[in-house]
Amino acid sequence: MDSGASWTIVLIDDEEDIREVVQITLEDAGYVVFTAADGQTGLNLAREKKPEIIITDIRMPVMDGLAVLETVKKEMPDTEVIIITAFADMDLAIRALQLDASDFVTKPLNYEALHLALKRARDRFVSRKQLKDYTRLLERAMEDQARILQQDKLVSLGRLAASVVHEINNPLSGILNYVRLMKKTVEKGNMDSARLEKYSRYLDIVDKEISRCSYITGNLLAYTRKSPPSFETIFIADLVNRCILLCSHKLELQKIELHTTIPKGLPGVRGDFNQLQQCLLNLIFNAIDSMPKGGRLTLTSGVEPGKDVLFLDVEDTGTGISNEDLPRIFEPFYTTKQEGYGVGLGLSTVKEIMQRHGGDVLVMNTDGNTSTFRIVLPVAS
Ligand SMILES: Nc1ncnc2c1ncn2[C@@H]1O[C@H](COP(=O)(O)OP(=O)(O)OP(=O)(O)O)[C@@H](O)[C@H]1O
Ligand SMILES: [Mg+2]
Repeated sequence: MDSGASWTIVLIDDEEDIREVVQITLEDAGYVVFTAADGQTGLNLAREKKPEIIITDIRMPVMDGLAVLETVKKEMPDTEVIIITAFADMDLAIRALQLDASDFVTKPLNYEALHLALKRARDRFVSRKQLKDYTRLLERAMEDQARILQQDKLVSLGRLAASVVHEINNPLSGILNYVRLMKKTVEKGNMDSARLEKYSRYLDIVDKEISRCSYITGNLLAYTRKSPPSFETIFIADLVNRCILLCSHKLELQKIELHTTIPKGLPGVRGDFNQLQQCLLNLIFNAIDSMPKGGRLTLTSGVEPGKDVLFLDVEDTGTGISNEDLPRIFEPFYTTKQEGYGVGLGLSTVKEIMQRHGGDVLVMNTDGNTSTFRIVLPVAS
């Protein structure tokens, strides 16, 4: 016979004889058994004794076995319930199984069948507990992983914050010095025209440095913004035309020829116009910066063969990118430009925005006298 040692049972039956015989039999097998004569008392006993298994008759006055089963499954879902039923009540037995009873035994009771039902209930209890422990273990592992990811994020956020502070501190201390200097002389009251002219120059510097700070914070906002961009269907020709309009003056000043090849009838892409404009402008400005003595800027668009992907190439005849710089150019604040000219946020912002659009930005080719950057975007369906 199976040992029921360390297992507690609450037995609920309105027939005293059954209660007595079953209790003695089960206690002989090592179970700890508490009994109750009706459903309500049985439930209270179960709440108090917290048994692993409840055996309950199905037909009882006041609260029947099905009601006991339903309440137990709600309040103590881990507890196994075995139903005692008459052969004539097979439909009730089936209902009980649907309500997650672990088994049923029929009257008159066959003790071998009861022991078998108890063994199955114990097995079920153990595997349910194992499953629960395993789930808890998995949940904890997931939580740990999420915490590690969060920590990683915090570390890179901290690094980014440190570089932002560094980048903004320089222009800010310049601004502060000039403003203090001007304030001091204004307070003294001796403002001749030479001084006024000097101050106008200082104010230009202040203006430039403030623009630099606002460029940094503006790009960082685009870089870290988590809200989804406002998407609409965009045609690459519109985007290119708008950007050309915005930089034509700069191109002219620097004697840069512009060539565009945007075939008619290209499919649209889904995107946020302002953010995509910011990307293309960043690439064009980089190209312009690489051709201080003039050159040629070529914008070419098309659909990648066999793919639902649209590309736009920005090609310049500039200095190219050295092998040393190439792996780092997409890092925030990586710049090879002179102090005051580049911040190093252009390409990292482009990367971030393109990825948010389901696209990407890549260097297609670069050597001593040319570079081609390509942005790719999924075609709007
Ligand atoms: N078309 C290009 N030709 C040559 N070098 C380039 C080109 N585009 C980018 N680079 C290199 O990549 C670096 C990073 O570019 P990025 O746009 O991120 O920053 P930046 O232009 O230096 O500063 P910012 O764009 O913030 O004003 C540049 O400093 C430059 O060295
Ligand atoms: Mg740039």
